[in-house]
Amino acid sequence: MKRIGVLTSGGDAPGMNACLRALVLTAHANELEVIGFQRGFNGVLDQEYQTLSPYHVSGIIQDGGTLLKSARCPAMHTEEGLKQAAANLHDLELDALLVIGGDGSFRGVLELAPYYQGKLLGIPGTIDNDVDGSDFSIGFATALDTALDAIDKIRDTADAFERIFLVEVMGRHTGYLAVAAGIAAGAEQIICPELASELDLDKIAEHVEQARKHRGNCSYIIVIAETMYPGGASALAVDLEQRGIECRASILGHIQRGGRPVGADRILATKLGAYAVEQLVQGAHLMMAGEINGKAGLYPLALTGDKKKQVDSYLLRWQQQVAQY
Ligand code: F6P
Repeated sequence: MKRIGVLTSGGDAPGMNACLRALVLTAHANELEVIGFQRGFNGVLDQEYQTLSPYHVSGIIQDGGTLLKSARCPAMHTEEGLKQAAANLHDLELDALLVIGGDGSFRGVLELAPYYQGKLLGIPGTIDNDVDGSDFSIGFATALDTALDAIDKIRDTADAFERIFLVEVMGRHTGYLAVAAGIAAGAEQIICPELASELDLDKIAEHVEQARKHRGNCSYIIVIAETMYPGGASALAVDLEQRGIECRASILGHIQRGGRPVGADRILATKLGAYAVEQLVQGAHLMMAGEINGKAGLYPLALTGDKKKQVDSYLLRWQQQVAQY
């Protein structure tokens, strides 16, 4: 093995740069040349790439975003796109391609496999934390802290006005971020896909009324995962007002994707970047480098999107039975 490629794909996540640094340093130590593709798989198709040396990754461990830029790439779901990508990788004489991204990006990798002769490896990088085979994905810990910082501030104004707030957090179709942020922020309600596929507005209103009966007119925060309500938290606020629950919606949005990675993300990213390259050298193929119970390990890429990972059901039950009222 002489030359490997790397790209960051899908939603950027804090810690992707730390991962690139570890990966390039480990490759260099193993006498491997690294080619970094720009804008995810688009860089493979458009042949936009650069050689990455230790010089290029020095001083980036603390940076949010990704040095390589990121993007989604619909062409990677077409036969033409996959064939072109494989041909371009072969032309560059790449022995392997490493993809840092979420399960959507890994699906692209799996689709590429029949056309590309080199090795393929994934590293979980997404704030959604919805990748099976790793307890945490790179970016989740930072996004959680960012959401908490925002919710704590909302709590101040909610306290001052004795107001009800709906805070919408990201997570695509999963509730990992919503549950973690809701628990850590001491939210009075958490609404996420793992609890209900459809919302019962009367129940939400009833919970608020009961809590206010028990606690008086204090602040009340509902953390809701995006995609839980048509039109989002703003539409839900309007519909709850029609049931006599006056509330304000706050959509945290893309601030959750940015910012300096917290220590936990830098450490995870460093571990997984280094481990992925070491495993590649050992011959790993079609695997994801993840971490379970603090230990790095390989997990089949084909299983990373199975949605077997669970939100913390113990804390969620406690929140519902005890902290909600
Ligand atoms: O996958 C990361 C994520 O931020 C999701 O939480 C969110 O649903 C989606 O990406 C937003 O994507 P975009 O930035 O393309 O709107």
